[in-house]
Amino acid sequence: MYLNYCNYLSLKDIDKNIKLCGWAQNIRLLKNIIFINFRDCSGNIQLIILNDDMKLWNLTKSLTNQSCIKIYGKVKAKDSYDIEVIVNKMVILNYSKLLPLDIFIKNSDNIKFKYRYLDFRNNKVLKIFKIRSNVNNIIYNFFHKKNFINIETPFLNKSFPEGSKDYLVPSRIYHGKNYSLPQSPQIFKQLLMIGGIGKYYQIVKCFRDEDLRSDRQPEFTQLDIEMSFVNFNFIKKLINNLINKIWFKILNIKLDKEIKVIKYNKCLLKYSTDKPDLRNPIKFSKKIYNFLYFNKILSNKFDNIILDILIVNKNLYFNLNDFIIFLSKKNLYSIVLLEVYGFENNRYIYKWSNNYWNLNDILMQNMLFTLKSPINCFYFILIGKLLINSYLLKIRNFICDYFKLFDKNKFISLWIKDFPMFYYDKNNIINSFHHPFTKPKISDIYSLKFCKNYDKLLANSYDLIINGLEIGSGSKRIDSYIIQKEIFNILKIKDNIIKKNYGFFLNSLKYGTPPHMGIALGIDRIIMLLTNKENIREVIAFPKTTSGKCFLTGAPD
Ligand code: AMO
Repeated sequence: MYLNYCNYLSLKDIDKNIKLCGWAQNIRLLKNIIFINFRDCSGNIQLIILNDDMKLWNLTKSLTNQSCIKIYGKVKAKDSYDIEVIVNKMVILNYSKLLPLDIFIKNSDNIKFKYRYLDFRNNKVLKIFKIRSNVNNIIYNFFHKKNFINIETPFLNKSFPEGSKDYLVPSRIYHGKNYSLPQSPQIFKQLLMIGGIGKYYQIVKCFRDEDLRSDRQPEFTQLDIEMSFVNFNFIKKLINNLINKIWFKILNIKLDKEIKVIKYNKCLLKYSTDKPDLRNPIKFSKKIYNFLYFNKILSNKFDNIILDILIVNKNLYFNLNDFIIFLSKKNLYSIVLLEVYGFENNRYIYKWSNNYWNLNDILMQNMLFTLKSPINCFYFILIGKLLINSYLLKIRNFICDYFKLFDKNKFISLWIKDFPMFYYDKNNIINSFHHPFTKPKISDIYSLKFCKNYDKLLANSYDLIINGLEIGSGSKRIDSYIIQKEIFNILKIKDNIIKKNYGFFLNSLKYGTPPHMGIALGIDRIIMLLTNKENIREVIAFPKTTSGKCFLTGAPD
């Protein structure tokens, strides 16, 4: 007799004799019936054991929760929508001890991940990994249909740092030498382009020894893509299509066909972060400051920057003090509020939160007309000396939370492009913003050599953000030996190190390199979004602790 799976049985199978294998999750004895909540890898079904067969009855009474069983039985209607199985034979394959965790409640991460194999017996957990498996399939189909070639690249490598530390694997044969695990397949995918592969993709593990956060694990999975002879618009459209397909197939949600693109510098000004969660509708602008009249008053009074936030809503109720208290904690900004609450006889009716701001009405009318101000709105005007993005971000989030402007159920994506090429760290050491293979916006060698402000130089790079999570990152690559060498020089990598570490790569650029570009998407983060999980651990089968230890095996040792 074939093995059946409970979730594939339906009302159509009534009176059919079946065989099921799985776990007795919960056993209840009710007078002369035993009910078993049975599960297998497909789902759950109710088993019924009647007391007309004493051998079966006694065997069932010996069962413990979570024991592994095989049953034979007949499908019956439970009600007009559902089915159950009347058991006529049972084999106990293995008894279970009392589980060390209750898989149906919220357990601490230590317990849950220590017994992750038992946690999988919860259908909600299993569902995450079914979604993950389906997403992988969608990706493979998508790229296969577009004639991309799936190529695996090596894990035992030389070190090509991409901003984090490498994990090392000691060599058995070459004493004192190590392989490095890849932070990404970056160099190899570029070599594949030089080899004429043209369209490459791979779902691949990457390894980075860095501080862990809720969206970071030391080993994580990328969808890695590289293409020759295309431009940003091509990559953008390809990825938009893929994301739309995944969201539609998994969640039945139609995302916007087009995703907004914003330049990095503008993004910081508007949202004070390069990973804005656009479900928060608040934008900073300098509309009021740019209005000449204000600009004049302010520049007389303060040596400052002002930003304004416009909030349009009829039913806002709030206490300005809450804002003042919040902002005074930061001691950086003061806040003034302009409320526009009516329009009569062709003039706006408004009120300032502070009398000091009772400015000339004609000029105010002029300003509100020029700004085409909505009625029933508030302008939060922030005045402060410094523009510190992390504080501004907190203000943006605070106001959004305060007015409950956040729409949790939406998915809003954004492309950010033209990031800086370099940045200086705390110790004034120059670093690549993305990675050293990214093509700068100016790529003639003289402009590069004589560039005065490397941190002002822009890169041909782009990120995809969904709901404030960085889902993907990519760039156009340097395809010239001279420019690549110059970038290493700018990064102050010594000639002997360049030769030793990157010699083979620099050499490869001399053999007719095609222009190429690519991107890598974080699969774990995509699954976080699709399953509404706040921590990346939830979507990884066997994750690590924040300090990089394996919960289950205790590795490393
Ligand atoms: P990057 O380092 O930005 O680019 O990584 C690409 C994407 O991978 C995901 N990601 C991570 N996910 C979980 N845990 C981590 N520790 C982690 N680090 C990164 C993010 C990120 O956007 N080689 C380049 C790509 C390219 O230029 O084509 C690279 O790896 O979603």
